[in-house]
Parts: sequence; C-alpha cells; structure tokens
Amino acid sequence: MSQEHSLKQAKDILMNGGVIAMPTETVYGIAASIQNQKGLREIFSIKERPFFDPLIVHIADLEQKDQVVREWPVLAGIFANAFWPGPLTMVLAKSASISSLITSGLDTVGLRMPKHPIAQRLIRECGVPLAAPSANKFGKTSPTSADHVRKSFRGENLYILDGGPSELGLESTVIAFGGEKEISILRPGAITKEMLVDAAKEKNIIISVERKESSASPGHTEHHYMPAIPLVIVKGDGGITEKIREEICQDFCLSREARGQELRLNENPKVAARELYAHLRDCADLGAEYIYVKRISLQEGGLWDAIWDRLGRAASKSYRNLD
Ligand code: TXA
Ligand code: MG
Repeated sequence: MSQEHSLKQAKDILMNGGVIAMPTETVYGIAASIQNQKGLREIFSIKERPFFDPLIVHIADLEQKDQVVREWPVLAGIFANAFWPGPLTMVLAKSASISSLITSGLDTVGLRMPKHPIAQRLIRECGVPLAAPSANKFGKTSPTSADHVRKSFRGENLYILDGGPSELGLESTVIAFGGEKEISILRPGAITKEMLVDAAKEKNIIISVERKESSASPGHTEHHYMPAIPLVIVKGDGGITEKIREEICQDFCLSREARGQELRLNENPKVAARELYAHLRDCADLGAEYIYVKRISLQEGGLWDAIWDRLGRAASKSYRNLD
C-alpha cells in the first residue's frame, strides 16, 4: 500500500473515533484524536491501561499548542525552539477543552511535537492534535518497530502505520515547570539535563533542574517496561559469578541449570538506547529463562541516565559482584 493511501486510511479511522499505531522518533504510539472520547477510551482499553495514567498530546506545529494549553511560560518557548520537533514532553497548564480522560483529572497536560515525518503528516492532515501513549500493553516494553506493535496487539485488529525502526528508541524526556527558573525532570530521555540548562543559558536564563519521581507520572512507578521473563542487573565490574547465578535461580524459582541470556549494551549510548527495547525482546525470545545485564561504572551521565532509568524499572532485582 502506498504511504499516501495508508495515511489516508489512518486519518479516516481517527476521524471516526478509532485508534491507530503511529511511528515516532522515540517509540511507536497508539493515537486517538483529542476531540474524540470514544477513541480516547479505546486507547485505555486496548492498552489495558488504568485511567490514572495521563496521556501525552502530540502536535505538528506551534499553532496547535493553543488547542491544548492555556499558559506558555518563557522557558517553554525556549525549549520548544531548541528541541521541537523532538523527544521532549512539557507538562503545562491544560486548556479547558482538554478532556479529563487525557489528563487523568489533572489540571496539566503533557505536550510534545514529534519529529518523525509520518507522525507530523498524520497530525497535520487530521488538523487536530493526537493523544498517544506508547503502543504497548500497560507496564510492558515500549515498541520500537511496527513488528513489535503487531506482536503486542496480535488479534486486536489495530491499524499500524509502519515508519521503520524508531531512531532514538527511548521515550521522550518529560519535564514540568516549577517557578520561573525551575524545572523538574519527571522522566529522563534523549534531551538531557545539561541540554536543557544550556538552552536556557543561551537566552541568559540560569535554571535549576531537579530530578523528580512524581506520583502524577505513574508511567514512572517502579516496575515498568517489563520484559516477558525476569531481567536482573549485575552491578560491579567483575560481572556475573557462579554464586550470583545460583542466587538468581533461587530467587526466581528456576532450576539450577536455568540459562541466562546476557543483554549487551553497545558502548555508544545513542546506539545502546536505539537498540535497547528490541534487544530486550530478542533476549526474551531466545529461550533463556532470565536476562541479565551488567552495570559498568563508566555508563553514567547524559543518555546513560535514561538508559539505566528504564533498565532499573524493567529489572526485577539487582545483584552486586563484590569480587
Ligand atoms: O516518547 C514518548 O513520549 C512516547 C511517544 C509515543 O510520544 N509516548 C509515551 O507515552 O511514552 P506514555 O503514555 O507511555 O508515557 C507518558 C508519560 C506517562 O508516564 C505519564 O504518567 C506522563 O508521561 N504524563 C503524561 N501527562 C502528564 C502530566 N500531566 N503530568 C505528569 N506526567 C504526565
Ligand atoms: Mg509507556
């Protein structure tokens, strides 16, 4: 099917109150029109997502923000200029017309302008912003290809726009605004703390940034992004020992011979992020009974923080190699 044709079909479904899967540069999302309650409800039911977890609204250009938010702080303008379209979600005061289904009853809404050309065209052609969480069942690993989406929603007749593998592979950075010069990072991502500080500094604003675990962002509750078999983290540069293997088998009620599959991270964090979810899925498909990933001390700062944030949430337990 031509891209033209599939975009038209996706638009028709959305305009009729349905949902579709769309590619973005971070991960694939399940989208519905923000003006259609039926579509919004369908997102929650197909994802088996609880209504207390709010959705992100996606726009194609800055004009559309006025349909979504009622305030636009100076810093939001600076960050939009610096990072949009791109992997940054800003939590802002919502406009009156935004449904409580989207915000879970909060007075704020997450807003993002994705960079993927198919997402942009789709939103533009619909002429209305699209609410879209990641296209996975609640609590499971986010999809970074059309095939991942297909596998997660097998038999559910979900229309999927295939935009190739996601370029970044990790969900967007989510930030909220405190005072005029204060922001909190609710979810780390490809737009790092340093990048946010630098963008503000260029406009002569010195900001303070805190890392905040927010109960208003339940997507960040402790266990999330869970793969199909247990994932454990082995800390310490010595790697996995026989003793740790035994402990893992005992902790997860596995036989002593249970096979563990190592999840290897590329040393370049950009590549490691892009491959992370696909590798997690592959490891689970290889017939092993658990996955382990070694935490090496050098992997800190910048994008590594986002990668280890997700791995920490996906993991069932951590072990430390004291050798
Ligand atoms: O990269 C992404 O952000 C992807 C693509 C599809 O755009 N979307 C995504 O959506 O990851 P989702 O729903 O899986 O994660 C959105 C996170 C959730 O953890 C939610 O709790 C948080 O953003 N969030 C949304 N609105 C919020 C709000 N008003 N206040 C605080 N957190 C909010
Ligand atoms: Mg998600």
